Amino acid sequence: MAINLVYKGPQTRGECWQETVINALPDTKWHTWPHVPVPEQVDAIIAWTLPDNTFETYPNVKAVFSVGAGVDQLQPDRIPDTIKLIRLIDPSLTLQMQTYVLSSVMMIHRDHFLYQSQKAQRCWQQHNVALPHECTVSILGLGELGKAVASQLSSLGFRVNGWSRSAKQLDGVSTFHGQQGLSDMLANTHILVSLLPLTEETKGLINADTLATLPKGASVINAGRGEQIVDDDLLAALDSGHIQYAILDVFKHEPLAESHPYWTHPRVHVTPHIASITRNDTAGQRLAENLLRWQQGQPMIGEVNKQRGY
Ligand code: NAP
Ligand code: GLV
Repeated sequence: MAINLVYKGPQTRGECWQETVINALPDTKWHTWPHVPVPEQVDAIIAWTLPDNTFETYPNVKAVFSVGAGVDQLQPDRIPDTIKLIRLIDPSLTLQMQTYVLSSVMMIHRDHFLYQSQKAQRCWQQHNVALPHECTVSILGLGELGKAVASQLSSLGFRVNGWSRSAKQLDGVSTFHGQQGLSDMLANTHILVSLLPLTEETKGLINADTLATLPKGASVINAGRGEQIVDDDLLAALDSGHIQYAILDVFKHEPLAESHPYWTHPRVHVTPHIASITRNDTAGQRLAENLLRWQQGQPMIGEVNKQRGY
């Protein structure tokens, strides 16, 4: 079957992906949103977000491809049962996330916040250096990204915990699941990293209670989704000194408002949702591979369980 596609997104990415897809599947019909001559003939949509009336406009769509690893922004629960939802799984996303979390853990572990504040006062003062095996990093989410991040930190000598919905085993990582598992893990954590998808269950998970379960002086890194943190609770925990540092890549509202207290907080580091960015070259290859699998009747890579939301 020749696949009839609509792409919604930036032009440069669209041109790159169109070329890659047409090279792999020359009979594909590629359209750019919203210029679609016969919407009833569209089989699949590639997008980051979709307007509410999408499935009325394109009534015969059979698959939606997220341009990223996450799918919360596509609201999986409003995608009809008959339509497959596919997220991006790409080694280049995993590698970027490993380097983002590693650099963030190191920023905390090697006291760069402290030396930055000392620099502002031209203060030459040395502090003890902790070794990796004296630092416990706990990862929320042991999926494509969490597993790779956990294994890398473990290979560098950090003590690593990981929490997931279902029980897991991972070399060099102490694993936890469920509510009790979460509390046990938090109580034994120096640096907490969120690599969770955003679902009804993970929304607001990092709140006053969970932060209070962390030992005094723990730090938080969020590269999952902004809504997993209750911002006022994190700011209160930072201001009371219970939480030492926060490194945040994702926010409830993006771009982060100019007036948001995170921008000016001396113990918060902000990055603009760059922990792991979809690359046109590698992601285009992944898309073409998946379309080929679909055309050949094989399961696609990254198919989302819409009920679960990830
Ligand atoms: P994934 O492979 O689907 O893994 C998700 C993990 O979270 C799984 O281990 C899952 O547990 C766990 N999980 C989900 N709900 C849970 C719950 N209620 N309680 C405990 N554990 C739960 O996802 P991924 O590819 O690793 O990506 C994770 C997220 O990272 C994405 O959804 C996206 O939001 C975010 N992300 C951010 C950036 C960025 O630039 N900041 C880039 C890419 C992705 P099970 O294994 O038991 O199912
Ligand atoms: C980015 O946040 C992604 O989900 O790929």
